[in-house]
Amino acid sequence: MAPRNPFKPTFGVTPPLLVGRDALIDEFVEALEDGPGAAGRATLYTGARGSGKTVMLNAVEGAAKQLGWLVISETASRGLVDRISRQHLPPLLRTFDPDAVKKRLTGITGPLQVGGLTWTAVEQHAAEAGLRNQISLLTDLLREHETGLLITLDEIHAGVIEELRELAVAIQHAFREERQLAFAGAGLKLAIADILNDEVLTFLRRAERHEIGTVGLDDVRRALKEPIVAHGRAVTDDALAEMAAGTHGYPFLIQLVGAQTWRVRATARDISLADARLGVANALRRLGSLVHEPALAGASDVDKTFLFAMSQDDGPSRMADIASRLGVDAGYASVYRARLIAAELVSPAKRGYVDFTLPYLREYLREHATADVPTESL
Ligand SMILES: Nc1ncnc2c1ncn2[C@@H]1O[C@H](COP(=O)(O)OP(=O)(O)OP(=O)(O)O)[C@@H](O)[C@H]1O
Ligand SMILES: [Mg+2]
Repeated sequence: MAPRNPFKPTFGVTPPLLVGRDALIDEFVEALEDGPGAAGRATLYTGARGSGKTVMLNAVEGAAKQLGWLVISETASRGLVDRISRQHLPPLLRTFDPDAVKKRLTGITGPLQVGGLTWTAVEQHAAEAGLRNQISLLTDLLREHETGLLITLDEIHAGVIEELRELAVAIQHAFREERQLAFAGAGLKLAIADILNDEVLTFLRRAERHEIGTVGLDDVRRALKEPIVAHGRAVTDDALAEMAAGTHGYPFLIQLVGAQTWRVRATARDISLADARLGVANALRRLGSLVHEPALAGASDVDKTFLFAMSQDDGPSRMADIASRLGVDAGYASVYRARLIAAELVSPAKRGYVDFTLPYLREYLREHATADVPTESL
């Protein structure tokens, strides 16, 4: 039987080997150890689609659990506050001594009919206490165990700003009361920028912000080779170099190239250069529908025209050239440049130049240019 393909080219799924994030994970762990008031106790990870934000949250959750912390992992979609206060928080009380919970709960919510009280009833009583009270209750109990509560929130965006405010008020109170609480959030840079100006969300504004980006080639090679070897196969040096180069350090491509190359000859022991070439080509064919298409979904027609104009260049594009291709002045072009940088489609390159953020977007646009854009608008 062929050995199992170790790679995980699926969004939100932890890879067989997570590379290039140790420093960030350590930093977060230090903030947990440093105690209330440490800046990193509110951390935001931003990055383009497929850069590894969700996996980063998974990693800090894992690290927190190893320290004995309780973890609530949520996504910023409607109903978020209700889910935290009704579905996540109450069951966490079960980790504690029932008498201690009842005693403290009574202190917060008024007398409980003690004696023969089931956990279900205790949880229900707790859920009625609301978000802030429950966080107080839980962190009081946790203090005795010298651990805390980590709340993570993925896919942060302005669409749920009301609920983010509710959560923020509760978290800010807990921070002020020096409770053992930490928060880690993730989202696209543009989505995060949208909410940072909100006056209620001060803790998010003060949060440590980290951009999650590409990883170095040494790390890419490790992320490819170690799982291959651990799963009973081998890879030649030239094949590994070909695979690594094909990823451009982009985390999603590490998994996609790995998975596609693996399956070229899944029963052979060695992964050859020919396998790697085919694997990379197959991976790139899938990248359009998995990454480029969704990434472009939010772009306006002008945004796209700008991107198509960039795709005429083989490397970074000179802003002056883009403006002249678009037939607009430099000021107008720079407004769109800023929008596209915020949307993480474009990155500033050397002075006066821009480049694509996502690997192979240039090639994708070239292939789709005739279908999607009236050429006279360029
Ligand atoms: N540091 C890493 N090393 C190896 N593989 C990684 C790394 N980070 C992420 N991956 C892989 O990349 C893919 C994308 O990761 P993830 O889903 O976390 O991205 P994301 O930034 O949350 O994307 P989205 O914006 O779509 O939510 C997954 O297949 C994951 O296993
Ligand atoms: Mg994600």
